[in-house]
Amino acid sequence: MSFLDDVRLISEELDQYYRESASGDPRVVHQLPMHEIVKKLDLKAHLEEGALGGSALAEFIRRYLSLTVRLHHPGSLAHQVAAPHPAAALATLVEGFTNNPMAIYEMGPAAASIEVFVVDWLLSKVGWTGGSGAGGVLTHGGSLANLTALVAARSHFDSATWTKGCPGDLALIASADCHYSVARAAGIMGIGEKNVYSWTGTPSGDALSEEIGKAIGHARGDGKRPFALVANACSTATGVYDPLRAIAGICREHGLWLHVDGAHGASALLSLKHRWRLDGVELADSLTWDAHKLMRTSGLCTALLVRDAKTLDTAFHQDASYLFHSKQQPGFDSLHRTVECTKAALGLRLFVVLAALGERGLAGYVDRQFDLTLQAYELFRNVPGLECPVEPQCNILCFRAPGDDAVQLRVRDKLLADGDFHLSTAVVGDRRYLRIVVTSPETKLSDLRRLAFRALELAETDKA
Ligand SMILES: Cc1ncc(COP(=O)(O)O)c(C=O)c1O
Repeated sequence: MSFLDDVRLISEELDQYYRESASGDPRVVHQLPMHEIVKKLDLKAHLEEGALGGSALAEFIRRYLSLTVRLHHPGSLAHQVAAPHPAAALATLVEGFTNNPMAIYEMGPAAASIEVFVVDWLLSKVGWTGGSGAGGVLTHGGSLANLTALVAARSHFDSATWTKGCPGDLALIASADCHYSVARAAGIMGIGEKNVYSWTGTPSGDALSEEIGKAIGHARGDGKRPFALVANACSTATGVYDPLRAIAGICREHGLWLHVDGAHGASALLSLKHRWRLDGVELADSLTWDAHKLMRTSGLCTALLVRDAKTLDTAFHQDASYLFHSKQQPGFDSLHRTVECTKAALGLRLFVVLAALGERGLAGYVDRQFDLTLQAYELFRNVPGLECPVEPQCNILCFRAPGDDAVQLRVRDKLLADGDFHLSTAVVGDRRYLRIVVTSPETKLSDLRRLAFRALELAETDKA
């Protein structure tokens, strides 16, 4: 059997998997115990035989696929992970096989060139166009991009921290609804989780500057020096956007670096209809933007964009004689801008989707998912017994079935056991809600209506 035969066999399996998933017929999610999966896949036997290929490989992949979570399924509503466009999957095959670690130009010139091209395209969507001095880099995920942004912010604030270590009086300001990776970055950087001072909710106008001012005042009152503020575009739990223009003004007033965590919601910048949600983003210092959430790109593929490329160029001060030295080359090394050394050809994953769908196609996808989520909200809030804590601003919707928090968790468990829907939960305020992220292009309003009534039915029977 040749490579080509194996690829043909595997692509047939994937094609079948894709069509079955999109039809909604199979279960969307499996929750088998690990040891059963290991057994079902015959892992031990395959290891001993050591010659997996041809029809045996196809059979193995078929079984593997039958045990996956089907992101293209109309009932796939749990998490912020793209249902990848087939082009993205093909790109991961190509980059996996060529394996060019492109953070050093000479090790992956094609991949590095595509990354620069894709980053420039993303910068233009922010309004940071050519010649403005803006720049960026692709990273393996939004958590890493947030960490990188905060390292850049700290180096900008006090470049000595890199060599001398983190002083004990640094602090961050962040929305209480920010992603946990912000607190984790504070831990990693030696700032300390407890030195992240928060404001709660999404106040506007005077109340916003008052709330953020209180958080800053609290930090200073504790003898801390806040150096950066993290705003959400949008929040993970409810998908709500912070008012960026107003926050940028507050940051300027207090001399704070503004990092916008747009891991989930920055893709609204592609949409003429929804980009106003990020009004003022061009005033930020840095922006995290995940393509593997709302741009139909296989994981991981995140852009960290900065208004001034110099801030990223000087974020990490590292020396490695075998990599960092003067050399003649017709391209650009991005190694000094990232935590990673070996880095996959992330730009290729996004580029092929962009080229397959076109900017208009991707924007249309974002519009479709956002609009569908709003229609679902209108439907859900008019179903007696269901309630929604906030009107959705993107493709995330929280809702609650009759009963207490424990009921919501049991309803989710039962829905997962049914196998038609995969959804998550989130705490909003002090109550737990069921939560959906409408990401699959196959999900229709009729699927969401079915979910609403099934959740209601399960909550009612739970009471009885
Ligand atoms: C707002 C926000 N920031 C950061 C992240 C982390 O991104 P990643 O999963 O790509 O590390 C998430 C993930 O859900 C998110 O919603």
